[in-house]
Amino acid sequence: MNPPVTTIVPATSENINRAADIIRGGGLVAFPTETVYGLGANALDPFAVAKIFAAKGRPTSNPLIVHLAAAEDLSRVAAIEPNSTVAVWVEQLQSLWPGPLSLVLPRHDAIPDQTTAGHTSVAVRVPAHPVARALIGAAGVPIAAPSANVSTYISPTTARHVLEGLGDKLDLILDGGPCSVGLESTVLSLVHACPTVLRHGGIPIEQLREILGNVDELSSDGSATVAPLSPGLLRQHYSPRTRLVFSGEIDPTRYPSRTALVTFTPYFSPPTNATVTVRTLSDRGDIVEAAQQLFGTLRELDAGGFDLIVVEPCPRVGLGRAIMDRLTRAAAQGR
Ligand code: TXA
Ligand code: MG
Repeated sequence: MNPPVTTIVPATSENINRAADIIRGGGLVAFPTETVYGLGANALDPFAVAKIFAAKGRPTSNPLIVHLAAAEDLSRVAAIEPNSTVAVWVEQLQSLWPGPLSLVLPRHDAIPDQTTAGHTSVAVRVPAHPVARALIGAAGVPIAAPSANVSTYISPTTARHVLEGLGDKLDLILDGGPCSVGLESTVLSLVHACPTVLRHGGIPIEQLREILGNVDELSSDGSATVAPLSPGLLRQHYSPRTRLVFSGEIDPTRYPSRTALVTFTPYFSPPTNATVTVRTLSDRGDIVEAAQQLFGTLRELDAGGFDLIVVEPCPRVGLGRAIMDRLTRAAAQGR
């Protein structure tokens, strides 16, 4: 017999309350955020959190982000000394919350080891999506949520993506439409001497530097000059099953017969003998729209029976850094 398949329900206030009951009861709910869909459980309940790792097939060494309905709740999950440097940084960053920024902060005792994978720090974010905030508010507890995909696959930007990957492993999927950012949050550590970007995402590092001044980042191969390394930065991540390469890495005359080409702006088709399907992420050449379209396009092409996905690189500026980070990891698959 096939396992039961979860249904997708629209994010009405009635369904949000039903989802909040499930969270309080120790269950799993997928919900929309502005970045990607999250797989949520009560962050204070070690048994509920354990279900997240099991559903995703996620290594238990990889800590989760704790989501709050409002920044005022921060003291429930993080232990920040008043007037400390960390307190000042958090204050300076308040203009970016709610939004796609996760802060790694000293952890509050209320957060169990399972949620932080035993780290003394905790990643926290206030999402901007109204459904996410309504759900967390109605549940009355912080919600731990990784992206709602099977570990190492492409993050979901629609409710249907969640259903395809995890449909039989959770209790409810709230549908709030496609995600507006389409890339995960930027993870910024505030537990180092200098604020350090552990994962590029929806808030560009340039914007953080405008606010904080000095901001470090991990080197692009994922190795760290600072400890601890963000455990989620596995080299192979966000990977389609189909082989993916950057356009500079392969001569178009050597494209296999079924090749998909992903471009960021309207593009010429290269001279090749293969049948090339072209997907342009933004007809206007707009990087924000390209980011929104990226994961859905990769999923669609991955299901399309292609032998190869070729991606045109984009400049590593603004959101382009996060996009190139995800694509570099996707291209590392099978190497
Ligand atoms: O946009 C997002 O951040 C989405 C939505 C659902 O909010 N969530 C998400 O979660 O992308 P996840 O689990 O897929 O990625 C969380 C990242 C991982 O790279 C993890 O290692 C890092 O955050 N992280 C979490 N807690 C950390 C900690 N205490 N120290 C260092 N890195 C941490
Ligand atoms: Mg993820």
